[in-house]
Amino acid sequence: MKFEVTARDPRSSARAGILETGHGVIHTPIFMPVGTAGSVKAVHQRELENDVKAEIILGNTYHLYLRPGIELLEKAGGLHNFNGWKRPILTDSGGYQVYSLSENRKIVEEGVTFKSHIDGSRHHFTPEGVIDIQRTIGADIIMAFDECTPYPCEYKYAKKSMVLTHKWLERCVNRMRTTEPKYGYEQVLFPIVQGSVYKDLREESAAFIASQDQPGNAIGGLSVGEPHEDMYAMTSLVCGILPADKPRYLMGVGTPENILECIALGVDMFDCVMPTRNARNGMLFTTQGIINIRNERWKDDLSPIDAALGGHVSTFYSKAYLRHLVINKEILGAQIATLQNLTFYLWLAREARKQIEAGEFASWKEKMVKIVSQRL
Ligand code: GUN
Repeated sequence: MKFEVTARDPRSSARAGILETGHGVIHTPIFMPVGTAGSVKAVHQRELENDVKAEIILGNTYHLYLRPGIELLEKAGGLHNFNGWKRPILTDSGGYQVYSLSENRKIVEEGVTFKSHIDGSRHHFTPEGVIDIQRTIGADIIMAFDECTPYPCEYKYAKKSMVLTHKWLERCVNRMRTTEPKYGYEQVLFPIVQGSVYKDLREESAAFIASQDQPGNAIGGLSVGEPHEDMYAMTSLVCGILPADKPRYLMGVGTPENILECIALGVDMFDCVMPTRNARNGMLFTTQGIINIRNERWKDDLSPIDAALGGHVSTFYSKAYLRHLVINKEILGAQIATLQNLTFYLWLAREARKQIEAGEFASWKEKMVKIVSQRL
């Protein structure tokens, strides 16, 4: 996988780049819509490509392993063939589920035993097994198996967990080296930096991850409830240690404001359930600010959802109509709101890229953060 930094902002650490994968090119900074179980909820692939202009989507090892199962995905020839998405796919390793299943899993050095959230059945994930599953899913970018620590997290636990994540990483790297790409195109590993909110642990973890010399690197264990200042401080610190010539992916972040701030710190890739999940509850991200479409205020507002964003649903449907759909739990409401939010997130990343190329990112970001985070 080739990554080239094509422009740098003179007044921040923001950069624009091009990442080449076996399923086409990704322009960074980029936002990656989350498609946990092989579907970005409420959006079909043609809309994702043509309207949202997504360049890469996420899948989740844990969910895909449980349903539809690895056997069927292998029979289909991988997730790309199964769901019809022709562009790159990144799969998360299950490390985040280790965190979110807290009551239903047991971590030992060998791996993690967990109880399925679907039927309570028992399963065992090891770093090697998780690599094999992601190879079979057919991910272009495979995430290392890690433990995402909660917040708050005591220093002693954060350190022990980080050491375990590093040991697991060595086993993931080894498994990648000793196995072949499953379907002919390249599959690469991204290791994940941990260390909670502790400066010395983050430094140690970032240095260890950098030493593994993989094609890209990720920052995990953030956006788990810590203050934004901690998230920015850890991201800034880690970006300064991870190699500048490889993409940096900040996992699970965030609001439009978080994304703009972290682009300024040198992050290239983002994912978050916020634009899709919140859309289904009526929270809209627009070029004018954040809208709760369920609010009485929009009841008879027949203006377009987001005229300035352009694109079909944002200009074709009115706020009042979308409010009616969402309030009445019409499926179309979830579809329109999700398209609006994802189109906005991808637009924001493209605009950031343009501003970096023009050398204007830092001042644009200051203005933009105020606009996109205001509640209308
Ligand atoms: N998604 C958000 N944060 C994390 C993390 O720390 N690890 C993994 N594997 N996925 C994440």
